[in-house]
Amino acid sequence: MATWLIYVLSAIALVHAAVIVPGATWLDTSGNVIQAHGAGILKVGSTYYWFGEDKVLDSTLFHAVSCYTSTDLTTWARQSNALSPISGTMISTSNVVERPKGTIQNLQAHQSLTLAPCLRLPVIFNTKNQEYVMWFHSDTSNYGAAMVGVATATTPCGPFTYKGSFKPLGADSRDEGIFLDDNGSAYLLYASDNNQNFKISLLDTNYYNVTQQVSIMNGATLEAPGIVKRNGVYNLIASHTSGWDPNPNKVFTATSLAGPWSAQVDIAPSTTNTYYSQNAFDMLLGTNGIYMGDRWKSDQLGSSTYIWYPLTWSSSGLPTIVHADVWSVNLAAGTFTAATGTSYEAESGTLGGSAELLSDSSFSGGKAVGFLGNGGTVTFNNVVGIGQAQWVSLYYANGDSTWRNTTVSANGGANVIVQQPSSGGGHVIQSVPVKVNLKSGANTLVFSSGQASFAGDLDKIIVYTAT
Ligand SMILES: *[C@@H]1O[C@H](CO)[C@@H](O)[C@H](O)[C@H]1NC(C)=O
Ligand SMILES: *[C@@H]1O[C@H](CO)[C@@H](O)[C@H](O)[C@H]1NC(C)=O
Ligand SMILES: *[C@@H]1O[C@H](CO)[C@@H](O)[C@H](O)[C@H]1NC(C)=O
Repeated sequence: MATWLIYVLSAIALVHAAVIVPGATWLDTSGNVIQAHGAGILKVGSTYYWFGEDKVLDSTLFHAVSCYTSTDLTTWARQSNALSPISGTMISTSNVVERPKGTIQNLQAHQSLTLAPCLRLPVIFNTKNQEYVMWFHSDTSNYGAAMVGVATATTPCGPFTYKGSFKPLGADSRDEGIFLDDNGSAYLLYASDNNQNFKISLLDTNYYNVTQQVSIMNGATLEAPGIVKRNGVYNLIASHTSGWDPNPNKVFTATSLAGPWSAQVDIAPSTTNTYYSQNAFDMLLGTNGIYMGDRWKSDQLGSSTYIWYPLTWSSSGLPTIVHADVWSVNLAAGTFTAATGTSYEAESGTLGGSAELLSDSSFSGGKAVGFLGNGGTVTFNNVVGIGQAQWVSLYYANGDSTWRNTTVSANGGANVIVQQPSSGGGHVIQSVPVKVNLKSGANTLVFSSGQASFAGDLDKIIVYTAT
């Protein structure tokens, strides 16, 4: 009986003991790939709702705003779609619906959030209407309309009823976010005037419209905005404009939404282009925070992955992304833990075919292995496993503007393909994760065997035991 109980408990732990692995393919509780790009997160009671763009059709055109629920930010169950296309409107399947944000919730939930400021999210309450309101970027297929759309529902996942699309205060709005302030005022954050000027405007008390522009950053060319308020300081996190390709996302701070806003500061080493991601949503986690971004794959939008990292604030009061391959959150404590793993240098492996050692100070140990693929391979022997599917992070450099990929095979098993987006330069190192079945004890991993293209230059791998 006792043994049986332990087995059951460990099986449950395997399902729910969840780590966050940025850039991996995230599955929902039904085993399907999570389709919730351009995320907006809402918390009602102890449940998180993740709204996003369902891009399963690999198209920029509207398919659905999905809704997923979780109580731990890692295990997500798909619910009915929050918003679905309506033909003959601005949300038809020929239109664009992006970055669903900022749903309104009821008084009770708002009050509990106010008591727990560490969990403040863009959740706004409306005493009159007792409803949830979603804002999104509403556009035509060529992005020429530049509008916001608004939809309402009586339950968090909806389905939402579409109210309409319009240009806020008559001006363009493309990428947008919603920010709820402590006192119940909510704001639209938006790329306006052909993406040149960034604006913040106050919503009306219904949260159906904007009433007044409170801030404008002329010529800022910002996209993908989110605000977290910490210790009375507004932290505006946003990217610049470079289409689907990433750029160094920035933070601006101010003690009033009306500004003045500080000069922009990087939230990650600028060479990495925010670890190949674009901001989507940001939230507090205790005295820290969480950056939630998208790693867009423009030729296969539905395969775009989610890049969520911890954010920590420096003593000077500026947030920075903590680069963690594998990490976990403790929501009750408001803390995060970055997993540690065991590193294996590529130059310590066995080079095969046309593979060559490369030298540069940016490589760990000063060396990496290049010319992988097209016959070039590197074999790591004696990679210590614990007898389960384990996360392995590949540290690589890909100086191309396009994606590369590598194969990996464990112990003579099938080759698995791992995507390697541009790392931002031939000497800029990024990491991508892959889950590999490892035996207990020594394992042999072969990279880039059987591929007819060049892989990224491999610097090292880190093998994790946290799952
Ligand atoms: C919230 O505070 C802002 C900034 O002081 C102010 O402009 C706004 O009117 C306030 N909202 C409410 C509902 O009091
Ligand atoms: C929003 O408010 C403006 C006036 O500020 C008004 O002209 C417009 O019709 C309103 N839009 C909607 C959708 O209510
Ligand atoms: C791997 O990358 C090459 C370009 O380096 C590309 O031609 C090929 O389609 C990619 N394969 C996959 C499966 O993504």
